[in-house]
Amino acid sequence: MKNKFYITTPIYYVNDNPHIGHAYTTILADVLTRYHRNIGDDTFFLTGVDEHGQKVKQAAEKRGLSPLEHCNDLAPRFINLWKKLGIEYSDFIRTTEARHIKVVQSALQKAYDKGDIYLNEYEGWYSVSEERFITDTEKDSGQFRDIKKLKEKNWFFKMSKYQQKLIGHINANPQFIRPESRKNEILGFLRQPLTDLCISRPKDRMDWGIELPFDKDYVTYVWFDALLNYITGCGYGSDETKFRKWWPAEIHLLGKDILTTHCVYWTTMLFSLELPLPKSIFAHGWWLTGETKMSKSLGNIVNPLDMIDQYGVDALRYFLMREMVLGQDANFTLEAFIKRFNSDLANDFGNLLNRVSGLIGKYFNGIVPEPGNKTEAEIYIEETAGNLEGKIKGLILDMRINEAIEETLQLVRSVNKYMEHSAPWQVAKSDLVRAGTILYTASEALRLAALFLSAVMPQKTSVVLDVLGSLGSKTSWGGLKPKTVLKPHEALFPRLEVPK
Ligand code: MSP
Repeated sequence: MKNKFYITTPIYYVNDNPHIGHAYTTILADVLTRYHRNIGDDTFFLTGVDEHGQKVKQAAEKRGLSPLEHCNDLAPRFINLWKKLGIEYSDFIRTTEARHIKVVQSALQKAYDKGDIYLNEYEGWYSVSEERFITDTEKDSGQFRDIKKLKEKNWFFKMSKYQQKLIGHINANPQFIRPESRKNEILGFLRQPLTDLCISRPKDRMDWGIELPFDKDYVTYVWFDALLNYITGCGYGSDETKFRKWWPAEIHLLGKDILTTHCVYWTTMLFSLELPLPKSIFAHGWWLTGETKMSKSLGNIVNPLDMIDQYGVDALRYFLMREMVLGQDANFTLEAFIKRFNSDLANDFGNLLNRVSGLIGKYFNGIVPEPGNKTEAEIYIEETAGNLEGKIKGLILDMRINEAIEETLQLVRSVNKYMEHSAPWQVAKSDLVRAGTILYTASEALRLAALFLSAVMPQKTSVVLDVLGSLGSKTSWGGLKPKTVLKPHEALFPRLEVPK
């Protein structure tokens, strides 16, 4: 039986074009999905867009469009970017779709019927930008903008009822909230009594949302609506077999800014719906420019489309995956990008392909030579490459993607060193069998490195594998067939000039 792997990204607000932060989470989900597929798992990868709520309504108003017209214009921009980035999602969900509206209304009805939703008049501080009531402590923290006092009749979800159950679940499942620091943050948050969640917005104030099934004067609060996408997308309420196959998700990926909504709102909603919780919620850090989070409102965003046009998709995917230590913040600078590109991709990986194909071309008419007797140097390379698969698996399951990549690059570097030391271009003049052994060893190690990097750089690694005549996926030593005729190729990653 295959293992299943269901992964989600947050659904992005369509209040603006996608930026590098959105691209990052989606690429990360794609890399993990490809990796799990490569090791034989059955995968389902869900992404999409969050189309309701005040932010989107305001963005539409600014453009003089109806909210739906605005969403219909914006959603394809995300889909197009994902296509350009080589993202192979299984489904793309829009929260304005009928399938989702049905799920939201039935979930609300279910919670209402069991007494988990009640009407109450509430007076408190309301953050217009965050679109929710905030506590006095939050107000005093200075982190919220556009605050006003608001007195309103609204519908509330009994989040407090599930507080102890949630604490118990977190403690009993050490992998549930990752990394550990985020788990502690949530446990800290749960030390205070949980307040109930206001899940409605009166239509006369904000009407862009899903109508409550039990009160026509209200629409659903955007987060209560959005979080349910994770079950809509895998068949809840429409395809029981599909839903039973995929739910619960193995992993919800998200940025640290939306940790509470996922770890507290979503989990208590699932308790109310009597559904199992996701296996794990993983919060990554932010991409920063300098010291600040990249965001449209600060005008410091990097446009992924510009990066793709200028440097290629795989280089961008590589940089984002290699540079960020999962869980921590990372700085995005063009200097760091170019440095990484030149060292890892041009000098190490691309160069190794050039070398082996050039030398096999020159001394063996472009035909992969048969390896002869191995010396210690070949045994070392073979062992390093042989141990890599298991090492990488451990690191990826542990969400240490950057380290998994670095391990592979270390193999590539050690093969480049091996080439320099053993100098097949010299040896070939007197001992073709020995030169053939060296070139076979280097080519086979390159093939394995390409396979191990294929989830991160699907396009470029498939070029390498194609040159080596091997699009197969044999991850043990010896997959490269002697006598294979190498295909011609261009330089994989021509060095970039460092901008002045
Ligand atoms: N719509 C909600 C999510 C609902 S999920 C049920 C939302 N959308 S968002 O568009 O504002 O951002 C969503 C996610 O984008 C963040 O959590 C994060 O995954 C990613 N990022 C946005 N900016 C980012 C950075 N600067 N750096 C890294 N990721 C960031 O919140």
